[in-house]
Amino acid sequence: MSDPATGVGQATTMRTHLCGRLDASHVGSRVRVCGWVAKRREHGEHLAFVDLRDHTGIVQCVVPGTVDVRSEYVVAVSGTVRHRPVGTTNPDLATGEVELGDCEVEVLSVAEPPPFAVDDRVDADEAVRLRYRYVDLRRPRMQRNLRLRATVLGALRASMDAQGFCEVETPLLWAPTPEGAREFAVPSRLHHGSFYVLPQSPQLAKQLLMVAGMDRYYQVARCLRDEDLRADRQFEFTQLDLEASFVGQDDVLAAVSAAVTRAVEAVTGEPVPPVERMTWAEALDRFGTDKPDLRFGMELRDLSEVFAGTEVKAFAAPTVKALVVEGGASTSRSRLDAWTDRAKALGAKGLAWFRVGEGGTLDSPLDRFLSDGERSGLVSATDAAAGDLVLVVADEHRTACTVLGALRVEIGGRPVGEGAFRYVWVVDFPLFDGMDDEGRPQAAHHPFTMPHPDDLDLLESDPLAVRSQAYDLVLNGWELGSGSVRIHRADIQGRVFRALGISDEEAEARFGFLTGAFRAGAPPHAGFAVGVDRLVAILAGEENIREVIAFPKTQSGADPMTGAPRPLAPGTLTTLGLRALPPPS
Ligand code: AMO
Repeated sequence: MSDPATGVGQATTMRTHLCGRLDASHVGSRVRVCGWVAKRREHGEHLAFVDLRDHTGIVQCVVPGTVDVRSEYVVAVSGTVRHRPVGTTNPDLATGEVELGDCEVEVLSVAEPPPFAVDDRVDADEAVRLRYRYVDLRRPRMQRNLRLRATVLGALRASMDAQGFCEVETPLLWAPTPEGAREFAVPSRLHHGSFYVLPQSPQLAKQLLMVAGMDRYYQVARCLRDEDLRADRQFEFTQLDLEASFVGQDDVLAAVSAAVTRAVEAVTGEPVPPVERMTWAEALDRFGTDKPDLRFGMELRDLSEVFAGTEVKAFAAPTVKALVVEGGASTSRSRLDAWTDRAKALGAKGLAWFRVGEGGTLDSPLDRFLSDGERSGLVSATDAAAGDLVLVVADEHRTACTVLGALRVEIGGRPVGEGAFRYVWVVDFPLFDGMDDEGRPQAAHHPFTMPHPDDLDLLESDPLAVRSQAYDLVLNGWELGSGSVRIHRADIQGRVFRALGISDEEAEARFGFLTGAFRAGAPPHAGFAVGVDRLVAILAGEENIREVIAFPKTQSGADPMTGAPRPLAPGTLTTLGLRALPPPS
């Protein structure tokens, strides 16, 4: 209805002011405020104090006599704003200089005792917080997060509108698309045995909108994916989804940068510096990941040349990579063993470690197997100094890099929302991301991504060497968004489907509507999707996107408040043409 920060629209037929906006300028006014009882204290029979809370803050109300209210009762209080007596002002409270005197309290609704105190200092169990989410959301931190989210969404929309993008809503009841995640299915009442699929993203719909001549589309899109939940993943999440025609990669990067910049500035007031670019290959080589966290160094070092032709069996591999832990020489043996186990769990055959001493001496079980050249090469190629620890993995290039990249973050990383914001564009992703069990390449982004024009000829002969025109925006080690230039020609789309092991018949059956659309005249197009939950979480300084979503699911995908997911009534199942199997024991 209004912006509480400015106070516009704060007066309604039930109240004259908002609790947290009262200050010395109101002294002498008779006001009426509404909210929840945060605290009640009685001073004998003649005086009671009620702290009243609304979404803007708390104001202290002084009531002559006693008052029959308890925590979380909803009340309206009429009172006169006055200075607090000398010595009783509260600098921790925005309204701490004033209070409401001579108050009359009207109870609007009673409340049971809350399951936990409505206070940011209280750390209630996650399941309890979600069970009583409507109480949890009253806490200042959650109020701030949801409002920050609204600010971000407003700024993103404003930027897209200003850039000439047109908002179009696309269906939630859709058909399967091969975007990598498991999909949620919705049974059809009218077509027993057939199912809609909830969209993983509006990917195909937005491409069809390009064929339809929309030119520039965007949507604040709800996406649904049945995948394992983590700090940065929910079943339901929101994308700023966009697509444009007659554009290339640089146009998309500029449009996304403008939108994200506007959102970040709206929240922080700080401009976003120009975002640097890095190729996927460079990100992997230097940081061991396609989501480099640039807030700290610890770049991987290459020891492949130092150990080329080595006699040390453990280092006889195509790539030898190192990670230097500054001052890490004192790391305990049990910690080193734990890191070794972790490296193995991540796919390495082992993890070698070297404590660096004065004069470049090395302390390690492997030291006695090293030649003098290898010993000095290891120290000079890593720039390690006395007191440092060098961790080494020898393996295929990708494994050596990713294992050390993960250890880099686990050892040196910081929570995602802490400190500076470090954005980076990662470009030139490979088109395929390894082979599946049947020896077929797997799409790295999704199968609608245009191969790099220089690599088109390799599509059939050496698919894993084909680069794509796909790009990601990374912030503090989280993938904030991703996109690509799309295939807009049916012939190239057919070649990519075939490379993925999707036969022409299967492609026609599953995506005939897309290839058919391409035959109707498809403009070159490209797009992107920003993960709004992730952007908001980082801006709010939160570690888990759950904290910026009003009604999220628990780690196990449940909603303790509504009890979802729940069995359906047998009658409903019949209507849908379904029979439920008993849960697996
Ligand atoms: P992608 O699958 O990379 O690309 O998703 C884009 C962005 O959406 C966010 N995201 C999620 N956020 C929360 N929970 C999830 N389960 C989740 N999954 C993804 C991430 C991610 O970077 N259609 C393409 C985009 C395109 O090519 O235009 C797509 O959806 O921030």
